[in-house]
Amino acid sequence: MADSPVAVVTGGAQGIGAAICIELLKNGYRVCVADIQEEKAKEFAKYQQSIYGEENVIAVSCDVSKESEYTKLFEETLKHFKKVDVLVNNAGILLEQQPRKCIEVNLLGPLVGCHTALKYIGKSNGGNGGVVINTASLAGFVPIAETPAYVASKHGVVGLTRSFGMPFHYNKDEITFAAICPHFVDTDILKSTNKTLDPTFDFSKHPDKISPEFVAKGVLKILEDKINGSTLHIGADGYHYEELEERFKILIP
Ligand SMILES: NC(=O)c1ccc[n+]([C@@H]2O[C@H](COP(=O)([O-])OP(=O)(O)OC[C@H]3O[C@@H](n4cnc5c(N)ncnc54)[C@H](O)[C@@H]3O)[C@@H](O)[C@H]2O)c1
Repeated sequence: MADSPVAVVTGGAQGIGAAICIELLKNGYRVCVADIQEEKAKEFAKYQQSIYGEENVIAVSCDVSKESEYTKLFEETLKHFKKVDVLVNNAGILLEQQPRKCIEVNLLGPLVGCHTALKYIGKSNGGNGGVVINTASLAGFVPIAETPAYVASKHGVVGLTRSFGMPFHYNKDEITFAAICPHFVDTDILKSTNKTLDPTFDFSKHPDKISPEFVAKGVLKILEDKINGSTLHIGADGYHYEELEERFKILIP
């Protein structure tokens, strides 16, 4: 697998991120599992190494809310694999009681991740280009009364994906930017009760939950389709690219 593509997945130790790591490994990628939960990431990586080969999976501890940690993440991945082709900015939290932290992790994390990818793999900086996939959410398109900070962070992720996905960036750096926008997914983030503005609100009871594996296949779809600036809604009814309305498209400066 020495020439096979390399992907970095933040929030890769569990949930959607772990499913993305597995889907990428199944499809011949080498993977760096990046997570603030260092031990969990190491354990997960070790198990994947036993299936896909020790040399093809690494774990790096990374807090995406800290700029320097993104630099460390790229440096360590490049040291091991010698290249990075794909970055999945997936780490996220639901914590309405700490709106600043929510924005730092969910929005500033991916934003810094995009800038770091441009710096390390952008063509104008001597790299080979690649793909950045941001994990937004259905909450990137719709309001949710109980989670305004989370919704704001995910609307922001949709906005930065569409902005970095414009020709201005691609023409210089040949990086394709896209976002996955899943509906409710059966992971720990939903199980965390009392993290919204309504103590009685329980996301985990939503009837239309999809699996992390189904979301991970959406990442593969994006890597195949390579539509720059695209936002892929993933729900129980399947995968649908959500287009910006024409009346807004003509207003883009
Ligand atoms: N589960 C859903 O219903 C759903 C729906 C749409 C979008 N999302 C998004 O999917 C992404 C993954 O969430 P999940 O559902 O797998 O939840 P999860 O809680 O199972 O996983 C989140 C992962 O992110 C990691 N993480 C948290 N803060 C971090 C930080 N500062 N730096 C690095 N890693 C950090 C956690 O350790 C964990 O491994 C999030 O961005 C979430 O907002 C989830």
